Amino acid sequence: MGTAVETGPRLDQSMLYAECVNPQWVRLLDLLEMNVRYERCLGAELFTADGRRILDFLSGYCVHNVGHNHPEVVRALQQELARCGPAMIQTHVANLAGELAERLCAKAGGRLRKAFFASSGSEGVEAAIKFARAHTRRAGILAAEHAFHGLTCGSLSLMSDEFWREGFGPLLPETAIIPFGSLDALEREIKSKKFAAFIVEPIQSEAGVRIPDQEYLRNAEALCRRHGTLFVLDEVQTGMYRTGPFLAGHYFGVEPDMVVLAKALSGGLVPVGAVLMSDDICDSVYSSLPRAFVHTSTFSENGLAMRAGLATLDVLEREQLGPCSIDAGSYLREQLANALREFEMVKEVRGLGLLMGIEFQAPKRTRLRIPYEAFGAIHRAMFGQIVVMRLFRDFGLLTQICGNNFMVLKVAPPLVITKGQMDDFVAGVRQVVELANSPGAFWSEAVGLARRAFRS
Ligand SMILES: Cc1ncc(COP(=O)(O)O)c(C=O)c1O
Repeated sequence: MGTAVETGPRLDQSMLYAECVNPQWVRLLDLLEMNVRYERCLGAELFTADGRRILDFLSGYCVHNVGHNHPEVVRALQQELARCGPAMIQTHVANLAGELAERLCAKAGGRLRKAFFASSGSEGVEAAIKFARAHTRRAGILAAEHAFHGLTCGSLSLMSDEFWREGFGPLLPETAIIPFGSLDALEREIKSKKFAAFIVEPIQSEAGVRIPDQEYLRNAEALCRRHGTLFVLDEVQTGMYRTGPFLAGHYFGVEPDMVVLAKALSGGLVPVGAVLMSDDICDSVYSSLPRAFVHTSTFSENGLAMRAGLATLDVLEREQLGPCSIDAGSYLREQLANALREFEMVKEVRGLGLLMGIEFQAPKRTRLRIPYEAFGAIHRAMFGQIVVMRLFRDFGLLTQICGNNFMVLKVAPPLVITKGQMDDFVAGVRQVVELANSPGAFWSEAVGLARRAFRS
């Protein structure tokens, strides 16, 4: 007892975190002036201990579709705890898993009739890899360049960007990465009949909110069917009405063999993931009595996650957050495009529903190009991070750049975002972009940031 780390008001939580969890994370947040203490989070608003109000335009990377701490989801969880029901017994039929699976499969439609529950997106992707192998008796998995599928070893094997992979190999053998959007590349690989599945995000979120041609996914699905490869959609960010329909796959008119969901599924309050699949895939895994539990996970069907999932679906349906996402998304995209049109560093504002990206490009004018290139040489993310930092510090707007494309600012507020909040966002973004498009304060800020970053 005597050697335990002392806790209590005396020690700041962030210091304890640096001491006992991850000091570099604290250092990075300090550097970006984003290490604030959030006290209360409601809807799209985050209130800090020092009295600031931050508007959330990131949603924890598409977790908070129903808004932070939605009262209905909170109440459902309180009731679930209060009833002292079975939790983690493991040797029983979990109370609510069937009900949640039924509702998710009904919404997803097509051939999706069974669910496996997990506790994260990565764990869902891992399950999809195993289930695809079991069903097809093939080992290979195909994935798209610059995808983000999660950071466990199997999921990471499906990601091409070296930043995430470096130092963690060897990863899964027999994976192949093809350019997103290229049917030729898909056909070339898939013809070998070595691949159990093609796992792909319908819209690549971390690659820079990349939306494929309308026909790409439909043709990819047809190629998969022709060659006996399962067509699997990773809808961890795009699902749960983020882009308008329940699944982004619905927008593209495809019928996947499996869909991975996570993030927004439990209202942002309980870890959860789900793999929806066809009956025959499920039968291939749970193929006999002795194999009834051949793939499981301790926390996967836990009552809190299932209850939160059901309450979240209720909220998404009752508040019509799918249509809201389409309307708010069109409004926000139009306002942003109008406000940013005149700036040479803004290449495009794009997205579907409330999954959006603002893509920047290198300036042409020498007076901007010189500092831009100098800071890019220090770190490729420098420009985007200064935009993020200024939006946060000067305008109370929380965003981030995409994990695999530092020139794209991700815009993904909770689906309950209001017109006034979107107008505040547009005004803040315009001012920061205006600053970046003129020599001066924005770029001298970069000098300070670089100095602080490299001070040991
Ligand atoms: C598309 C996609 N798939 C999978 C994952 C992994 O999810 P998790 O972080 O819950 O493991 C993520 C995480 O950001 C994601 O964006």
